[in-house]
Amino acid sequence: MISSRYSILIASAGLLCVAAVPGSRNNRVVKHKTSPTFAKDIAPIIYSKCAPCHHAGEVAPFTLTSYQDAKDKAPTIAAAVKGKFMPPWQAITHGEFKDERILTKAQIDAIDAWAAAGAPAGNMSAAPKPPSYTPGWAMGTPDFIGKPSTEFTVGAEGADEYRCFVIPTNFPEGRFVTGVECRPGNRHVVHHLLVYLDSSGVARKKEGKDGKPGYSSFGGPGFIPVGSLGGWAPGLQFQTLPPGDGLWLPKGADIVLQVHYHKNGKQETDLSQIGLKFAKGTIDKQVRWESVDNELISIKPGDANYEVKADLDLPQPVTLLDVIPHMHLLGHDMTVDATFPDGTKRELIHVEPYDFNWQTRYTYKDPIHLPKGTHIAMVAHYDNSSANPHNPNNPPKKVLFGEQTTNEMCFAFFSYTFDTEHISKGVKVSKEQGFESRHKNLTIDSIFDFFDTNHDGKLNTDELADIVEFFQSATGESGKKTVSPKLAASFLISAYGKSEKGSLSKTEFKKAMEKYGND
Ligand code: HEC
Repeated sequence: MISSRYSILIASAGLLCVAAVPGSRNNRVVKHKTSPTFAKDIAPIIYSKCAPCHHAGEVAPFTLTSYQDAKDKAPTIAAAVKGKFMPPWQAITHGEFKDERILTKAQIDAIDAWAAAGAPAGNMSAAPKPPSYTPGWAMGTPDFIGKPSTEFTVGAEGADEYRCFVIPTNFPEGRFVTGVECRPGNRHVVHHLLVYLDSSGVARKKEGKDGKPGYSSFGGPGFIPVGSLGGWAPGLQFQTLPPGDGLWLPKGADIVLQVHYHKNGKQETDLSQIGLKFAKGTIDKQVRWESVDNELISIKPGDANYEVKADLDLPQPVTLLDVIPHMHLLGHDMTVDATFPDGTKRELIHVEPYDFNWQTRYTYKDPIHLPKGTHIAMVAHYDNSSANPHNPNNPPKKVLFGEQTTNEMCFAFFSYTFDTEHISKGVKVSKEQGFESRHKNLTIDSIFDFFDTNHDGKLNTDELADIVEFFQSATGESGKKTVSPKLAASFLISAYGKSEKGSLSKTEFKKAMEKYGND
């Protein structure tokens, strides 16, 4: 029962749900002798590091594609870059990733001094040309364009909506995908989107049931995906894979676009699309995605430094392509290290401070080879104090693992290939030999031990209620009515707690789980 539940957790965990939360700012003043000018010093920074999001039709609320744009906003720009609020980028592992959105200290100081000097233009005839952006597919014309059959209407007001749209592929054979570009239709309301693959037919059955295009599904897509084709979030470009690598699109699979809509006070419509490029040459390795993760999370109210760890030893040599750290609103930092069999260590990612609103796929400039036996260790911290401006609860409440934005998660997702796989030579590797090996960590025993918080070897009503809530929130579908955890715990204890009144022993707990674990 754990394993089927577990797949749902994995399936849902690509979740990048969001509420708008202001970033923290720091208004330190830096003095400069000579003031930089826009033409010489500032334009190159703004055009390369800011304009990709700050241009017409993109996600940012104003454009930064001319001197006038920058001048008008100079003080806010200075504050945003000094506070490290812009450009959004949480990795403090430097130099490893493609398309790093980072400003050097010298660049930040230059912007600050320029703004303080009244934003001088300088010799504009020598200024770099503003960047131009061509509308259309950034990766070039796709081989396949998938989109929902009709536009979806997003209401003006109310809670965020997660809508899944089913796009049948109907290709006569399975195909390797080497390029993926997601195009949000209406950037005013599309917060992010995720692309799942469904071979079960479950998504098709849900499609359109409520009379509108798609179906609603918070968290996971409502089925166990056979794969993923990535997704889109502000600032993310298309994904192209290294030569010889491909994402597998099984024959007949449906592409399911899960779009997170954030309402903006006006009724809007959206038609988001996905473009795919298929392998032209030989594919030798299938790109997989898996995570290092821990679901045993229970954060006491007020705990400002709650630690969650996870680790695994790689049973196979693999090559890592990218990493996506994923926590929710209380997530403060996450570090994942690899310790090689010879004892040397390498940081795979360190995000701090983590920002739920700017989750990013960090793609390694050079894919990282991890030999068999490499130990991967993750440590993450959470701030459940009232001093955390992102805390959804005031006063803070106990927070468990789960799907809702107000639950927590702890995942580092990796895309990787198996070094021993050579599809072109007929050598395939089964998925269970890679990151999947970590599944052994989540067992009935480990759940019992984790939630037995007073370590007396039995579960009282409060402890058991936490377990019930853990399962409910971990697998919960939005809107589904659930029994109160306290009530369910009391019931289970009265039905199974034979050895001692008011509690369950481990054996009794296992019996109860066998009977009720799937409900
Ligand atoms: C990845 C996309 C992205 C990049 C790159 C980016 N911005 Fe932004 N920026 C945004 C978005 C989106 C907002 C709206 C606020 C939000 O949603 O966080 C924003 C908001 C801002 C704001 C308003 C902050 C406020 O006070 O509300 C400023 C100023 C700003 N950006 C400046 C910059 C500068 C300067 C750069 C480059 C150094 C930059 N941005 C790079 C996406 C981006």
